[in-house]
Amino acid sequence: LLYLLGALAFGYLLGSIPFGVIFTRMAGLGDIRNVGSGNIGATNVLRTGRKGLAAATLLGDALKGTAAVLIAARWGDQFAILAALGAFLGHLFPIWLKFKGGKGVATFIGVLIGLKWIAALIFAAIWLGSAFATRYSSLSALIASAATPVVLWLLGEPEMAAMVVILVALLWWKHSANISRLLAGTEGKIGQKG
Ligand code: G3P
Repeated sequence: LLYLLGALAFGYLLGSIPFGVIFTRMAGLGDIRNVGSGNIGATNVLRTGRKGLAAATLLGDALKGTAAVLIAARWGDQFAILAALGAFLGHLFPIWLKFKGGKGVATFIGVLIGLKWIAALIFAAIWLGSAFATRYSSLSALIASAATPVVLWLLGEPEMAAMVVILVALLWWKHSANISRLLAGTEGKIGQKG
């Protein structure tokens, strides 16, 4: 049990590195939490107009999840699953930002890459299809994430599917302001300022 908690804590530490905050500060743009939606993720970094920084944020926030899972997987599947949960919790509730972190989309796909890359590919395809059609980053993430437990279950990974249900619930909860804006028709589209 102690080792399983260790995997959770290890994932949390990696997941809590806020790449959006770090990269935008390094670029001299100040605090990303004062920009646009105030979120620390790639979608909001894109609102600064810096595509490269947004891509780096997406990559960093995703790959920290992948790294946590792949390292923990050396000890077994259950360790990988707990590290995935830890990394996601770390991104959403980082101790360094007084537990006010991101909304989890990049880290969600990152842990999926480590756990079951086909599921990550399906997530990305659904996200891209929806983003292309609607231009809403948040809506695309809500749809693609909701499909993921079903995808994992169909791929014969019930334990992963069960853990991912928790991630999806947290991701949707973190998007509650986005959901209200989507329903009101006031949600910002991809690349749009504000
Ligand atoms: O991935 C985050 C996205 O779904 C919403 O971000 O900045 O528009 O609230 P934001």
